[in-house]
Amino acid sequence: MQITINNLSKTIKGRIVLDDINLEMQSGKIYGFRGINGSGKTMLMRAICGLIRPSSGTIEIDGAVLGKDMSFPKNVGALIENPTFIPKYTGLKNLELLAMIRGVATSQELKETLAAVGLDPLDKRTYKKYSLGMRQRLGIAAAFIENPKLILLDEPFNALDENGIKEIRDLILKKKDEGALLIIACHDTQELVSIADEVIEMYEGKVTKYYEVKNHEPA
Ligand SMILES: Nc1ncnc2c1ncn2[C@@H]1O[C@H](COP(=O)(O)OP(=O)(O)OP(=O)(O)O)[C@@H](O)[C@H]1O
Ligand SMILES: [Mg+2]
Repeated sequence: MQITINNLSKTIKGRIVLDDINLEMQSGKIYGFRGINGSGKTMLMRAICGLIRPSSGTIEIDGAVLGKDMSFPKNVGALIENPTFIPKYTGLKNLELLAMIRGVATSQELKETLAAVGLDPLDKRTYKKYSLGMRQRLGIAAAFIENPKLILLDEPFNALDENGIKEIRDLILKKKDEGALLIIACHDTQELVSIADEVIEMYEGKVTKYYEVKNHEPA
């Protein structure tokens, strides 16, 4: 998969939230976004998912223009800000509902995805009884079901304990090895540099710095 972003800008109510962004991203790599609050990381992720339309410029995925040739990217999984789940259902039931909407994952695969994010597939607790970190883990599980080729994770390590961070980091690296294209926003620079292949810094809706990570140390 190849994502090409050309001169992407987005203005919301007179405010420029994305400002002339140009980027190229390829499968088998992890792209790490950092930047202060309000710098545009989440907006860019929303644009790549087809959830907001560019004011100008284009996002091409494998040559097809988002919002023109297709409404949403094919084969995408995303955790962007607070995911919504149905409070009265268990984690497994919530994933089953998502899988029903989206397509083809078997119950066994959903259970494996839950286990991979450190949740017990047999846990009878409903979502409303989940702790903050458990909710975050379920959100990540939802982004991983059905083996998406493009995965966007906005602050995946939020609210996770040490084990959780390790489990999710391992899962992210596994998806990369399997050939997915991963886009991750993270405020913890050390964490970001430890997994990302390319680091992209944003400020006031612009890309202000782009560097390749060598030996997972910042350049
Ligand atoms: N729903 C919205 N309507 C209008 N403007 C918005 C909306 N959501 C965010 N913005 C604006 O878009 C800009 C970029 O916000 P964005 O959420 O992308 O930042 P961010 O880099 O993800 O920040 P954070 O680190 O806090 O998550 C900010 O100026 C913000 O005020
Ligand atoms: Mg954000």
